[in-house]
Amino acid sequence: MVGPGTGVAPFRGFVQERAALARDGQTVGKTILFFGCRKAAEDFMYQDEWEQYKKDMGDAFEMHVAFSREGPNKVYVQHKIKEQAVEINKLLQEKAFFYVCGDAANMAREVNTILGQIIAEQRGVPESKGEEVVKAMRASNQYQEDVWS
Ligand SMILES: NC(=O)c1ccc[n+]([C@@H]2O[C@H](COP(=O)([O-])OP(=O)(O)OC[C@H]3O[C@@H](n4cnc5c(N)ncnc54)[C@H](OP(=O)(O)O)[C@@H]3O)[C@@H](O)[C@H]2O)c1
Repeated sequence: MVGPGTGVAPFRGFVQERAALARDGQTVGKTILFFGCRKAAEDFMYQDEWEQYKKDMGDAFEMHVAFSREGPNKVYVQHKIKEQAVEINKLLQEKAFFYVCGDAANMAREVNTILGQIIAEQRGVPESKGEEVVKAMRASNQYQEDVWS
């Protein structure tokens, strides 16, 4: 799940559902959330809730947060996605779903691009092939977006 800013809204529900299942003793699949905001102290939405979900789900829940205005350089969700390239590629090969929500003008396009690059690098294929894999993921609904601008 990739949901910077207000794009995190639907994923809060996804994670809440899995946290509830985990609390009931059920096994839940690996759940990774990439969130981005300006500063931890300003707009890190539902910060306390995520901590609770981590307690509920243990290792099944991972959250990676990109703070864009805390240091000298902008850090965005796509940078965090790149850092997790090995695991993302592994999960996609196991047929994990990839969800993106938020800004369509820049973020969603850049996330699409970075995913193609990750697939190409990790699978040792040309970048054009990585792009094709992402297109095929979209066609089969493995890659789903709810984006606006
Ligand atoms: N006044 C405020 O304090 C405040 C706070 C939050 C949101 N807002 C406004 O509320 C509206 C919606 O906000 P939102 O929370 O959905 O989004 P947002 O706060 O505008 O953006 C969420 C995060 O995405 C980052 N971002 C910007 N361009 C990106 C890109 N190309 N790829 C990946 N990440 C990117 C932003 O970084 P950067 O913005 O640092 O580039 C920010 O860290 C916007 O109009 C926003 O301006 C205002």
